Amino acid sequence: MNKGSIFFCASCGHESTGYLGKCPSCSDWNSFKEAPKEPKVKKDKTRHLFTKAESKLLTLDQIKEDEVSRYNSKSEELNRVLGGGIVPGSLTLMGGEPGIGKSTLLLQVSKNFAEQNLTVLYVSAEESSRQLRLRANRLGIKPDCKEILVYAENNLNSIINEIESLEPNLVIIDSIQAVYMAELDSVPGSPSQIRDCTGNLMRLAKSINVPIFIVGHINKEGDIAGPKMLEHMVDTVLQFENSRDSNIRFLRSIKNRFGSTDEIAIFQMEAHGLIDVTNPSAIFLEEKSGGMLFAAREGKRTILLEIQALTLGSDYSNPRRIANGVEINRLHQILAIIEKTLGISLAKTDIYLNVVGGINIKDPALDLAIALAIYNSAMGQSNDRDIVALGELGLSGEIRSVTDIEARIRECSKLGYKEIIIPESSFRKLQNQEALGAKIISAKNINSLVKNPSSKTKTQVTSH
Ligand code: TYD
Ligand code: MG
Repeated sequence: MNKGSIFFCASCGHESTGYLGKCPSCSDWNSFKEAPKEPKVKKDKTRHLFTKAESKLLTLDQIKEDEVSRYNSKSEELNRVLGGGIVPGSLTLMGGEPGIGKSTLLLQVSKNFAEQNLTVLYVSAEESSRQLRLRANRLGIKPDCKEILVYAENNLNSIINEIESLEPNLVIIDSIQAVYMAELDSVPGSPSQIRDCTGNLMRLAKSINVPIFIVGHINKEGDIAGPKMLEHMVDTVLQFENSRDSNIRFLRSIKNRFGSTDEIAIFQMEAHGLIDVTNPSAIFLEEKSGGMLFAAREGKRTILLEIQALTLGSDYSNPRRIANGVEINRLHQILAIIEKTLGISLAKTDIYLNVVGGINIKDPALDLAIALAIYNSAMGQSNDRDIVALGELGLSGEIRSVTDIEARIRECSKLGYKEIIIPESSFRKLQNQEALGAKIISAKNINSLVKNPSSKTKTQVTSH
């Protein structure tokens, strides 16, 4: 080991003075790389984030309340997740696993800018210009498009010079892990390179009022690699998430200085790029087949999903438990509740559970739909009436209240799913039940719910 060296994890950026086989931060094996220790950073005038005119003492009424005029990305979904469009002078970090669609989305945004006669500098620090051209062809960008300028470069100083002389309307850095500052001794992708490059881009974005998107890869833990530390430096952090085995992509806002972090954008990856999914429930319920329905909350949106369960006699001494879309331990807990409170034995039954559409759901309100889907399958019945079930299950089978109940009911009702089972405690809190336009079945515990199914059909509001 060289005395002037540090070691860092190439997956998550964790630093250490010695080589480690396994990273204590992200648990990755053999990911440590050696890099020369950096000299102390020299005093640097460019470290100021604000211009001279801005950095003086002001009372609040002296500060102009400029209404931010945002660029329209022409993607309804992206605009929403950003809080209404792209803010000039903002720095946005876009994270996601390789191949999820970061470059595709940003090139599409570039295309949409070009169509509004706005110029874009796309810094391709990872891929060659030829690769980018191929993707552009696929996305239907005209080869003679003059507004998009592609710059295959890794050196941050050259990139900054180009941005300053061009003053484009949008800059994309793809990716931050591939750019470097020659002044630093460390290798591209090391924490100090990522941090300093991002700091310089932040200052540049503010000083010439250009919005900059930086792409950041994520590690196995789902954190934006190394740059967990970047999150506090940038204005906005967007994270791409995959759904299992499907072409649906979620773009979540983790931090947003210009909007709410409760937003989520949904896209579908097609042969010619990502398309907006403004009505996700329609896609997820396209091929529904008798499973229980559930209204999930993702940020401020409600998404209707089908929960399918398959139960069948097992040949194994330990029956199979397969859960797609929910934690396996949660399935085990729900099975224990079913066995205990409904008196059904599942000890010799294989159970397969699937949240259709490939979404992973953590929302505790899903418990009841899971339990009823399993119960229906075990009883050989199916949910032909398209009943929606909302509720968390307590260990003694009680159905506990759920969040955002009115928003969930309203969405179900809007999409034509009018029979909804909800917890009694949530039912009591509903303001104007009639206005929700649904037949609400309120239930206190799962036992009384499944033992008295007949009363469900008769009245507008049924209580168990
Ligand atoms: P990409 O944008 O390169 O991902 P990232 O930048 O996050 O690494 O997306 C690559 C994947 O998307 C690749 O598997 C091919 C697929 N793809 C499509 O299905 N349709 C398209 O129009 C494009 C451009 C890519
Ligand atoms: Mg890419």
